[in-house]
Amino acid sequence: MAQSTKAADLIARSGVPAYVKHGRLIAWVEEMAALCEPERIVWCDGSQEEYDRLCEEMIAAGSMIRLDPAKRPNSFLVRSDPADVARMEDRTFVCTTDPDDAGPNNNWVAPAEMKATLNGLFKGCMRGRPMYVIPYSMGPLGSHIAHIGVELSDSPYVVVSMRIMTRMGAPVYDVLGSDGEFVPCIHSVGMPLEPGQKDIAWPSNREHKYIVHYPEEKSIWSFGSGYGGNALLGKKCFALRIASIMAREQGWLAEHMLILGVTSPAGEKSYVAAAFPSACGKTNLAMLVPPAAMEGWKITTVGEDIAWIKPGADGRLYAINPEAGYFGVAPGTGPDTNATALAMLDADTIFTNVALTPDGDVWWEGMTKTPPPELIDWQGKPWTPDCGRLAAHPNSRFTVAATRCASLDPEWDNPNGVPISAFVFGGRRNDTVPLVAEGFNWNYGVYMAATMGSETTAAATGKVGVVRRDPFAMLPFCGYHFGDYFNHWLRIGHTVDQAPRIYCVNWFLRDEKGGFMWPGFGENMRVLKWIVERTQGRVGAAETALGWIPRYEDMDFRGLDISRERFEQLTRIDAELWRRELEQHGELFEQLKSRLPREMTLKRELFALDLWRDAA
Ligand code: GTP
Ligand code: SPV
Ligand code: MN
Repeated sequence: MAQSTKAADLIARSGVPAYVKHGRLIAWVEEMAALCEPERIVWCDGSQEEYDRLCEEMIAAGSMIRLDPAKRPNSFLVRSDPADVARMEDRTFVCTTDPDDAGPNNNWVAPAEMKATLNGLFKGCMRGRPMYVIPYSMGPLGSHIAHIGVELSDSPYVVVSMRIMTRMGAPVYDVLGSDGEFVPCIHSVGMPLEPGQKDIAWPSNREHKYIVHYPEEKSIWSFGSGYGGNALLGKKCFALRIASIMAREQGWLAEHMLILGVTSPAGEKSYVAAAFPSACGKTNLAMLVPPAAMEGWKITTVGEDIAWIKPGADGRLYAINPEAGYFGVAPGTGPDTNATALAMLDADTIFTNVALTPDGDVWWEGMTKTPPPELIDWQGKPWTPDCGRLAAHPNSRFTVAATRCASLDPEWDNPNGVPISAFVFGGRRNDTVPLVAEGFNWNYGVYMAATMGSETTAAATGKVGVVRRDPFAMLPFCGYHFGDYFNHWLRIGHTVDQAPRIYCVNWFLRDEKGGFMWPGFGENMRVLKWIVERTQGRVGAAETALGWIPRYEDMDFRGLDISRERFEQLTRIDAELWRRELEQHGELFEQLKSRLPREMTLKRELFALDLWRDAA
């Protein structure tokens, strides 16, 4: 039988639900089925029954472990292939007709060439596996800020994860109607099963991995990996790379930002959106528990990874969290660093690549001070504290619904979003960048964000601990040329009447002995307080070449032992380090020069002059 006839037959046998009325969508599913040759097609409805059934199937297949229901009800452990543990930036592509549209910040291959490669890889790639049709909304269903995607995947782990991470299921088809717009996303683990071949716990393709975006047709193709942002295509692929392109076309922003609410003791509420690179503390900050001495201050969580931000009719910028769950880094999540996250993981959570305790619970570095005497590590091997290996992979993660978060903001689901008062940008820097600084104006803030650098972490490939430029914490996620992106940011600030103020922060300064100079975590509340009070015009600052920086007396240090000397170190601007920093800004600008806004190079020169004047 010809593949197309087979596909038509698969569609017919799959029982297309009556509520799926979108002819173009059904035709696309059929076309993909003809290419991938799955054993059957499963239309996911997003129900609890479906979730439970898929988990049971994965448990029976040996790819998921149910944790002790008394200790962690309705929670599971999954172990990935050791070669499939993180996003892969070197396997991520943006395929535009003109390579300059993708920019030097993306890996580029011509669309026709990539299509030929992918057609070869996807041909028959789902043999012996079901093809799940996963409809989802990024953002509250029907919100004017939300957008719809449909992911086809041969991974049940992707289905259950997407149900937690997005608004997934049958109601999406009501919003889609018979002709609504959706982003087609196709994903395969890339390991077809021959008749009689036994599956493995974490199928993937060790030889070929591709995470591909076609901006011109706004589609996503992912092959060979089942992990995180490589496979949950609503997240980085759609909500950042494709959405950043849609945002530029339509006049809004798609950013790698958490969104939090700050409530003062007087009950005033502000919202802050903050961008940090992967594994640099977004989840911690979004769920911050203020120190006891700052009684009355409260932080609430709207989002912890991605923000979609649109201008409102009142001249302010409004943000939604397009996600419905958190795919957060497990190691380092403990009672002192993030008690809210720890409690959130008490039930209804999927853990990936953490360690298993003998009594059916999970553990990771930083969960408790003393590790358990014995564990099964993330690779399924026996582990003891003296064995010299990590028990959990550094990029091991939890997948949990936002509704499990005790600090969830009451407006988190508001289809109109929340008004943003301040943007914060933070990298992981040993030195150079002070604890906090406020940009003099919008363009200045855009410059600071555009030139930000950060030490690399496990979430990126390559060396760990090397400083690389990571503009807006978007280096792996901006779907188009960074020069155009900076221009878009400059423009947005001038199209709204009340642009938020822009700040940069650095929690990661180190002293001579290599220890952190700033206590961080809950104590970051002190910086947030200064930021919010600045936006209200209530607190002072000193003018420096770098922007407005708090003086000692401008910050609330009640209950925290920070000497004036320590504070000076935390806010010092070292002219020699900044000379090197500006050189690196120059290198970045050189790479982006074909589309770099002139404001950037001019600001850099002004900046250099101001620094020399201060240093003289
Ligand atoms: P993605 O989910 O990968 O986008 O990252 P994320 O930004 O949400 O990462 P996460 O919050 O999980 O970052 C965890 C890392 O940041 C751990 O290494 C923490 O120890 C560290 N971290 C978070 N907040 C602080 C802080 O205030 N000070 C210090 N020194 N480290 C921090
Ligand atoms: C990140 O790497 O920034 C993440 C994890 O949030 S992933 O979804 O895998 O991209
Ligand atoms: Mn992220």
